[in-house]
Amino acid sequence: MSEHTATRPRAGTGVTPGRNVIAVASGKGGVGKTFFAITLTHAIARAGRRSLLFDGDLGLANVDVHLGLNPVNDLSRVLTGKLALSGAVQTVDSAGFSVIAGRSGSAALSSLAPAQISGLGRAILSLAPSYDRVVLDMGAGLDRTVRTLTAHALTNLVIINEDPTALTDAYAFIKLTKQQRPNADLRVVVNLASSQRDGERAFGALRRACESFLGLQIPLLGVVRRDNLVTEAIRRQAPLLVRHPNSAAAADIEAIAEKLMEPR
Ligand SMILES: Nc1ncnc2c1ncn2[C@@H]1O[C@H](COP(=O)(O)OP(=O)(O)OP(=O)(O)O)[C@@H](O)[C@H]1O
Ligand SMILES: [Mg+2]
Repeated sequence: MSEHTATRPRAGTGVTPGRNVIAVASGKGGVGKTFFAITLTHAIARAGRRSLLFDGDLGLANVDVHLGLNPVNDLSRVLTGKLALSGAVQTVDSAGFSVIAGRSGSAALSSLAPAQISGLGRAILSLAPSYDRVVLDMGAGLDRTVRTLTAHALTNLVIINEDPTALTDAYAFIKLTKQQRPNADLRVVVNLASSQRDGERAFGALRRACESFLGLQIPLLGVVRRDNLVTEAIRRQAPLLVRHPNSAAAADIEAIAEKLMEPR
């Protein structure tokens, strides 16, 4: 990876992030954010903690599709002021965690005014004390919604896979996030890894670029192996930890959840 643009620090966002809020983001799309965010939230619940998953991919929400849910109340009613955010929380009965679902294809949700996005961030922070961990599933890229909502999370996970494009997009995400919020707690998860070792190798390329060009040490939180049982569970619209609790990807995400449950 090469770098030609100088890093220019910018002022922070002025938001105090929730200590127990974890944002799951990436540069590139389709690297497994939603699958990972669902399974992480589920793993936290299985460890006996209260966990909430918020579908922050506002225009292209699909947590409900992954889980086969039929949300009665979703974010669109919250944003039109008809419902408090707490009224949009529903429990995934088979899994024991809570979800705030979005609505895919909602023009209103995909073009929120900056003040509305900030209001949503504040509403998430006001719900956060009722849970041990709140996980935000973000859309791909770095648009205003992603930047604003991730600023409300103390822990920002950047998901990559082994593709060079995922690495360069994640590098851009890290660079811009650190410019905006120099104190952001960024950690990398490699998903869809051919093996633990290959995942670590992919991370190594990103780590070296962050060190050389940004002077940043970004830690690896964990590696999740590519696993056909993930695809099977998603096609069945069932949580991986219900359908294939002993799969390789399930074990990898449970190990990551353990790390994220350590006291902050
Ligand atoms: N560990 C894995 N093993 C096998 N397949 C996986 C794994 N993780 C994700 N996938 C596959 O990748 C697909 C995309 O996953 P997902 O919808 O979670 O990505 P995303 O990053 O949320 O995408 P988007 O950027 O569009 O929101 C899934 O449908 C699944 O088939
Ligand atoms: Mg997604």
